[in-house]
Parts: sequence; structure tokens; C-alpha cells
Amino acid sequence: MVTKKIIITIDGWSSCGKSTLAKQLAKELNYLYVDSGAMYRAITLYFLRNHIDWTDKKEVKDALKNINLEFVYNKTSNASEIYLNDENVEYVIRDLVIAEKVSEIAAIKEVREFAVAQQQKMGKQKGIIMDGRDIGTVVFPKAELKIFMTADNAVRVERRFKELYEKNPNITLEEVKTNLEMRDYLDSHRQISPLKKADDAVILDNTHLSEEQQLVKALGWAKEKIKK
Ligand code: DC
Repeated sequence: MVTKKIIITIDGWSSCGKSTLAKQLAKELNYLYVDSGAMYRAITLYFLRNHIDWTDKKEVKDALKNINLEFVYNKTSNASEIYLNDENVEYVIRDLVIAEKVSEIAAIKEVREFAVAQQQKMGKQKGIIMDGRDIGTVVFPKAELKIFMTADNAVRVERRFKELYEKNPNITLEEVKTNLEMRDYLDSHRQISPLKKADDAVILDNTHLSEEQQLVKALGWAKEKIKK
């Protein structure tokens, strides 16, 4: 019997564990996982490195023509990693320097059109889990399962701080908090595709849930949709 393949979208606020859940779900279901935020981060890296004036439409359009993004599966980390013009940038794009500019760049119409077109192509065969901000509302509005993730601010700041501190012990909790609040504000107030819960999304608040508990919940929802 051929098992039905579905599309699962995971949207939500910054640092509420979307990618952790998405990776675990993908492993359980043997689905492809795509981190759409990594695409906006890689574009930001390219713009910064090449001193692109992103307030200039023509410069943005020309720059996008020179950007090739690809996800390549890494056996060791057991996840796909993003490549910008054949360079693995999976780790550099997690830097706070990128996080400080990414929301501004992700709000640009041309940038979104560029990323969304590629995301929709990746979902053609279904059997995909994509996380981001507009995946259930814009990229895959007909997805079978849409999850909207949230968690208390303090918990999210603490989680992101721990993650970044491992790489950069000079980072402060205050810096992380300011960045998170700024991104959440910009991502949910921009004109094009702002972060918002799709009407048919289920809410997953993981403030008091362990990784295993949230996985059990999400896996239950997914299996129900696959059965239908
Ligand atoms: O998921 P993340 O924190 O790596 O995403 C980085 C930024 O990219 C986020 O602050 C907003 C933007 N983004 C977006 O606008 N739309 C998406 N689908 C995913 C991310």
C-alpha cells in the first residue's frame, strides 16, 4: 500500500523550537525538512558580503540573479544544510549579525517572491515539512497539517541565548532579548506575508512541554491527517 504523503507547515515566533520539532517529525515520517528561514538568512549574508543597497530595487533584483540556494543532506548532522553559491553557510547564517538584518531583508517583495517560488517547487512532491513565518498562510495555503508554534517570551530568549552562547560567550541575554523582540515585531507587522496564524492551523504552545511531549502531539496530528 502506498502511504499518502502530506505537506506539514510549522510557523511561529522566533526561537520557539520550530526547527527542532520539524527535524524530529521529518525523521519519524521520513519526510524532507526545509528550513525556509535559512533561505532568508543566506540572502542576507549575500547582501551584507556584497554591500548590496537593499533599499534600491534594481540592485536587489540584480543581486538575486546571482544567488543560488540549495539544501544538501549531511549524513553526520542528519539534516539538510543550506549552500549559498556552492558554499556551505549553514553555520555562519546563525550569527547575530545576520539576525540583526534578516527581518528587514525578508520584508522586501522581490526577496520574498524569489524565496517563495523555490519553496513551492520543493513541495510539489509533498512529503515535506517546512518551517518559517508564512508557510501555512502563503507558501502552502492548502497544506494538510498546519502547526502554529508559540512559547513564553522569557523561555524563548533563554533557549536562543543558550544556543548562541555556545558559539559566542561574549553574547548577553539582553542582546538576544532585544533581537528576538525586534524580529517578532518586524516579522508580524510587515506589509507582505506577515507572520500570523493561518485560520486552520493548530496551536502548539511548548512553554511547558519537553521535546518528546511536543513530538508526540505533532506526530499524532500528522498521522491523523495521513490516515484520512
Ligand atoms: O526561522 P529563522 O529565525 O531562522 O528566520 C530568520 C528570519 O527570516 C525571520 O526573523 C523572518 C524571516 N523569515 C520569513 O520572513 N519568512 C519565513 N518563511 C521564514 C523566515
